[in-house]
Amino acid sequence: MKKLKIKKNVKKISLIIIVIALFLSIGLYSGIKIYKQKQYEKTYEYKLITLGYSESETKTLLDNYQEKEIEYILTNEVNNNYLNLLNDKYFIYEYFYTYLEELEKNPNNSIRNIIEKVNTLTNYEYYTNTVKADISKNELMLVNKYYYLDKDYIPENLVSIPTTYSWGEYGSKQVVDFVYEAYLNMWKSANSEANLYLMANSTYRDYDKQEDVYNEYKDARGEDYADSIAARPGFSEHQTGYTLDIFEKSATNQETFHESAAYAWLKDNAHRFGFILRYPSDKEDVTGYSFESWHFRYVGIDVATYIYENNITFDEYYAYFVK
Ligand code: DAL
Ligand code: ZN
Repeated sequence: MKKLKIKKNVKKISLIIIVIALFLSIGLYSGIKIYKQKQYEKTYEYKLITLGYSESETKTLLDNYQEKEIEYILTNEVNNNYLNLLNDKYFIYEYFYTYLEELEKNPNNSIRNIIEKVNTLTNYEYYTNTVKADISKNELMLVNKYYYLDKDYIPENLVSIPTTYSWGEYGSKQVVDFVYEAYLNMWKSANSEANLYLMANSTYRDYDKQEDVYNEYKDARGEDYADSIAARPGFSEHQTGYTLDIFEKSATNQETFHESAAYAWLKDNAHRFGFILRYPSDKEDVTGYSFESWHFRYVGIDVATYIYENNITFDEYYAYFVK
């Protein structure tokens, strides 16, 4: 009789233990689930999705932006610009907020245009926010309306171009030695491949010479015109010794050189020798100069080829790859 009672009690206790264990398990499971959900709700992934970004957009944002930028993105409504900026090949991370400021000022401009503008500093007025050119970059140094050379900067290893390949007295047309070699190679190919007879018209110009050139335009037709065609002293890449104004024996007119066979050949071949057309017709807003069909700058074959094939300016190439 007693034995039976004990057996019954054991059964009862076991049942109670099982029920308690079951409740505990359910409780624990729900607790973990709630905890996990609460933890997930603290993540950027949850916050971005809740704000309205799709899962794949959220992934893109998280893969590309750091905490500070994600926090910023979360303080704003869903904005495709954060994603579109990332799609541009030349997006530079540190300019993120500047791109957004420019987009706000110019909402109708394309992302490409905004990025190009900011990367090349043209969101600032020309000749403001100027900085010294980094001459340690050698043939990749940038000299433009923001980057300048000191008055006394003279390139090393200048050599004179023989009068066979340049106009003026011997000694008056100089470039850096390896630029001369490249020009000579180009000269020979232009001659043998296209029967052209290239002639360099203006090459290295020191600060004082550039001042004369600029002032001549300015005195004749005013500052705006001078700024569209000539650099202010210190801001000309002719002072680098890496630049040549190139014409042809039978095509000497600046106004019509772009219609010549020499220009047609140079435009599509100069990169093979390391030169770029520095001020193209479709990049005036970036370079700040009107189309100069004769002005070629040495940057080396690889860089020249990249710039030629990708249709960007050296200014933007410098911002993205060199600086
Ligand atoms: N003509 C070019 C822009 C110069 O003066 O350097
Ligand atoms: Zn020039």
